[in-house]
Amino acid sequence: MLHYEPKDLSVPEVHRLLLGGVAPRPIALVSTISKDGINNVSPFSFFNAFGANPPIVAFSPSRRGRDATLKDTYNNLIATKECVIQVVTHSMVEMVSLASAEFPPEYDEFTKSGLTPIDSDLVKPKRVKESPFQMECKLLEMKSFGEGGASANLAICEVLKFHVAEDLFLNGIIDPAKIDLVARMSGSFYSRAADGVFILEQPVGKKCIGYDQIPKHIRESETYSANDLGKFGNSESIPNESEVQEFINKIKEEKLELFESGLAAFLRYQRLNDNNRMLKAALEIDENQKRNIELSVKCALQTHDLDFAWKAALYAGMIK
Ligand SMILES: Cc1cc2nc3c(=O)[nH]c(=O)nc-3n(C[C@H](O)[C@H](O)[C@H](O)COP(=O)(O)O)c2cc1C
Repeated sequence: MLHYEPKDLSVPEVHRLLLGGVAPRPIALVSTISKDGINNVSPFSFFNAFGANPPIVAFSPSRRGRDATLKDTYNNLIATKECVIQVVTHSMVEMVSLASAEFPPEYDEFTKSGLTPIDSDLVKPKRVKESPFQMECKLLEMKSFGEGGASANLAICEVLKFHVAEDLFLNGIIDPAKIDLVARMSGSFYSRAADGVFILEQPVGKKCIGYDQIPKHIRESETYSANDLGKFGNSESIPNESEVQEFINKIKEEKLELFESGLAAFLRYQRLNDNNRMLKAALEIDENQKRNIELSVKCALQTHDLDFAWKAALYAGMIK
């Protein structure tokens, strides 16, 4: 590990560390209006949501790193106390990047970026038509931390109205593939969120057994990864010995056709990610039986078949 205290680094070095380590960050595309009525729209990735009751979002229009001056978004927010925050999708990211260029305050950044302004219902700043998720906001508080270059100005806002495209929803939740959000990472790296989506079972509201209750032989096995053990710890209960025995007898008796025998069958079904046939084949080979059963457990964990995984893992622990 490398170890740093911010006082020993330059501001750009600290900034680079934060950009790389605190990532991927969602991007707020913030529209504001100056007191003279000039529209502004700029992206900010020091951004997130912080509560739902009332809905609170915050972002940081920092002081410019170069000369510590304040950005137009900051000045407009202080003057009018209003903004619209929209999310950034893959189809609009180049225009959003263009909106981040430093245009003087007298330029309308909708004209400069090519993004389309549409009227809001409750606030003066315009919404950005290209974004399928827009939030009309009022500024609750601006918290400033320092006056040097790149110092934070945390704009804490309450959402007064959401505008959401109806085709984003699947079974009542916003579908990651449909919204197709992008996020900011270090340097020029961005992430297209939908490309890396996976499903993780939520421990919320469940009585999980926790890591410490996983039997020692499972915790100390060299086969399982940290994520495998996390899935075991996320269970509500552990099957008992007779349930394990019943499960194993059923697998042994089951008429699962194996097209090969011995190790060849095991390897074939390992390649096919078929945990049932892997286990059946493993039970027929004495050599490396424990390890092969554990590999069928790993395969079951990948497909979220926790009942199979537990019973096979506990059986592996009974093998001497
Ligand atoms: C994806 C992206 C994320 C950005 N995030 C921030 C940020 O969190 N804070 C910030 O001060 N500037 C950020 N910037 C830079 C501002 O967008 C840029 O300084 C812009 O010119 C500010 O415009 P304004 O002066 O009109 O407010 C970001 C730029 C991009 C492209």
